[in-house]
Amino acid sequence: MMRNCVTRNLLCTHCQILAICQFSLALGACGRVGNTAFFGFTEICKPKPRETVVVSGAAGAVGSHVGQIAKILGCKVIGFAGTDEKCAWLTEQLGFHAAGNYRTVDIVEFLKTHAPNGVDCYFDNVGGELSSSVMSQMNNFGRVAVCGSISSYNETDPEKRKVTITQPYIVAKQLKIEGFLVNRYADRTMDGILKNLQWIKQGQLKYKEHITNGFDTAVDAFIGLFRGDNKGKTLVKL
Ligand SMILES: NC(=O)c1ccc[n+]([C@@H]2O[C@H](COP(=O)([O-])OP(=O)(O)OC[C@H]3O[C@@H](n4cnc5c(N)ncnc54)[C@H](OP(=O)(O)O)[C@@H]3O)[C@@H](O)[C@H]2O)c1
Repeated sequence: MMRNCVTRNLLCTHCQILAICQFSLALGACGRVGNTAFFGFTEICKPKPRETVVVSGAAGAVGSHVGQIAKILGCKVIGFAGTDEKCAWLTEQLGFHAAGNYRTVDIVEFLKTHAPNGVDCYFDNVGGELSSSVMSQMNNFGRVAVCGSISSYNETDPEKRKVTITQPYIVAKQLKIEGFLVNRYADRTMDGILKNLQWIKQGQLKYKEHITNGFDTAVDAFIGLFRGDNKGKTLVKL
């Protein structure tokens, strides 16, 4: 494919991906992950420059991508992740304005400090109590894109599946909350890939891959997603 494109003096998208890096990009930042971040954030949160954006699961594949798009679009970005080291990566390497370890900080107090004017957009990867706390700090007409709810995926204890009620905030602040599946934007797949590719080539968007080697590592790599082992996209190389 590469030879044919070069012969015609143009590079098809796949060759462009290969030209800047490797196949794995098409499984992450220039694939489903990148499109989930791009369409979910831009279409549902509809961010405006200078607005304050909060991302949960911020050091994961989708969250780290969303936070950087928010920055590119001129927003203030605050992330929540599960270790201090991940939070340092978000602020020092990816340019998040602030990042809090959701295991150790008081979410509401953290937002009162770092988002004193309130939260306009929330990109939710995790759900649960963290999300109820974020919604309590949103501004009128705030927008919430519900991408995932990883905090609930393995929780079977009915008591632990209960969170603080959010309806009072939703009504009083007139919030718009919308779940989505990336497949909704399937007919625009190439638009998302090309946009993300452009930002990567311009050096505005960084991506990280957490790669383990061999089929034998697949189970541990999968469980690691719930332990929070990864930064960026988890991949198993066969
Ligand atoms: N709507 C769609 O079309 C679509 C498409 C793709 C993915 N998704 C969803 O989007 C979310 C993010 O996907 P991803 O690929 O970015 O995930 P990922 O890279 O696999 O990241 C998962 C991260 O979630 C965090 N996490 C795990 N358990 C948690 C808990 N109980 N509370 C808070 N954080 C927890 C962990 O980081 P910490 O160390 O920070 O805890 C982990 O590293 C997932 O929920 C996934 O199901 C949705």
